Amino acid sequence: MGRPGLMGNALLIILRAILKAVFEMKLVELSGKEKGALDVGCGDGGFTMRMAAHFRKVIGIDNGEERLKLAEVEKRTLGVENVRFEKQDAQHTTFAEDTFDIVYSRRGPTFYDELFRITKSGGYFLTIGIGEKDAWGLKEFFGRGQGFWTWKTSALAQAKEILQRKGFVVLYGQDFLFDEYYASYDDLNRFLQGVPIFEDFDSEKDRRHLEAYAAKFQTDKGIHLPRHRFVAVAMKEREV
Ligand SMILES: C[S@@+](CC[C@H](N)C(=O)[O-])C[C@H]1O[C@@H](n2cnc3c(N)ncnc32)[C@H](O)[C@@H]1O
Repeated sequence: MGRPGLMGNALLIILRAILKAVFEMKLVELSGKEKGALDVGCGDGGFTMRMAAHFRKVIGIDNGEERLKLAEVEKRTLGVENVRFEKQDAQHTTFAEDTFDIVYSRRGPTFYDELFRITKSGGYFLTIGIGEKDAWGLKEFFGRGQGFWTWKTSALAQAKEILQRKGFVVLYGQDFLFDEYYASYDDLNRFLQGVPIFEDFDSEKDRRHLEAYAAKFQTDKGIHLPRHRFVAVAMKEREV
């Protein structure tokens, strides 16, 4: 990432940290030594292992082989025993119905039907999702991007609506907006190669759009990129 000024950098770090801290606080509030949790899209498992201390057992699933290898190495290094990592597609997992007290997706996929199926009745689902304003100006220049066509309304409102329709009761929902600044065109270009804002990002083919964006959103702190996340917490309704 680029190097914003000292103040801008500090603010960005603080806002990002607040988002992550709120999610973690909500998860820890609902945790318990008798409970089992599922981390959907666990990546390199760093967060999964941090949460292990709060649960009887945590399973982390991801469809990325390399990330899971890193997770296994780190698990052995740290000697964490109540965590298991599995390569699984979050859309169709192998878990039985009503398996987990808590299912969470921290910036991972949210296949709501599957999440609902494997969460116990009275159990919880938590997520950090991508808001509709994330990198919005950039997506407008490109005329495409993650959620460009479908997020006509609030992504949080949509997530809440889907969760309710599937049978969850939404307990909490909050948007988090923050600004990033990239020191140069090359920094922004490199960043876009490693994130799913444009799944099909191509440095050469997209050069014209990116140069136009960089010129328009150049500020004294760097090239501005607005970011948007939300946190949602829901409970699967108890069967009566
Ligand atoms: C942005 S990363 C988040 C990683 C981790 N949860 C964190 O907060 O650091 C999203 C993860 O979701 C995983 N993922 C994406 N689609 C998936 C799917 N269909 N099934 C399982 N994992 C998936 C990716 O491989 C990636 O590791």
